[in-house]
Amino acid sequence: MAVSAKGEKPEKQGILLVTFGSSYPEAQAAFDNIEAETREAFPGIPIYWAYTAKMIRKKLAKRGKIIDSPAEALAKMGEDGFTQVAVQSLHVIPGSEYHDLMQTVDAFAGMPKGITKVMLGKPLLFSSDDNIELAKVLSNKYSAQLNKKEALVFMGHGTHHSSNIYYPGFQYYMQKQLSNSFVGTVEGYPALSDVIEELERKHIKDVLLAPLMTVCGDHAQNDMASDEPDSWQSILEEKGFKVTTVLKGIAEYDDVVNIWIKHLKETMHAMDN
Ligand code: CO
Repeated sequence: MAVSAKGEKPEKQGILLVTFGSSYPEAQAAFDNIEAETREAFPGIPIYWAYTAKMIRKKLAKRGKIIDSPAEALAKMGEDGFTQVAVQSLHVIPGSEYHDLMQTVDAFAGMPKGITKVMLGKPLLFSSDDNIELAKVLSNKYSAQLNKKEALVFMGHGTHHSSNIYYPGFQYYMQKQLSNSFVGTVEGYPALSDVIEELERKHIKDVLLAPLMTVCGDHAQNDMASDEPDSWQSILEEKGFKVTTVLKGIAEYDDVVNIWIKHLKETMHAMDN
């Protein structure tokens, strides 16, 4: 337990886990896994949650499940007597959600009372090392399920934010581990059409389709794997590919969660100094 500068009052440390959020019950498995891994890494330190997506918080509130925004959670933690809060971004890339969160955290760092130190941990993919580690973990998870003629295709979210470059970037790291692996996005670049071009160029017929998303939520279940005509599965099948889908968010894998935990450990360490 850290002691304050004057030594008279012990610091009270807390962790705030921040995700985009999901209204899908299937997403809970990933959130539960993150919480369990965090508890194991930081025994005795209270864990709070916040969702950045207002639309999802509203939807859940209608079902009686109240989830805080990051600002609401930080205000609550101040009221609950926490003096040091490590905020961990559970986003995949440092996109607009992460940058908005950074502003919220900065605002709380300047509050006159309550929390004296609040710091933000990096999202899943930040450094080159993060990319290498995630590529290794995911190729380990999926390579056994692939034969030589098969490709692993990820569905990432994609963004209009300049950090969209992480998706083609991550594909480079993935291909170092597993040459027939591709990253497409729902809302950014590369698109599915770019991935299909590559698959056809390499004469690939079979595809293992998996989310590059924290949870198996709306995008994975509707836009990726479904029989809706515009899902990735339907489009690929229409083009003659044999498609196998993975309905698992990457946060369901402990080795993936460990990358976030590593970032959280760096933040906790920085707060102690
Ligand atoms: Co979306």
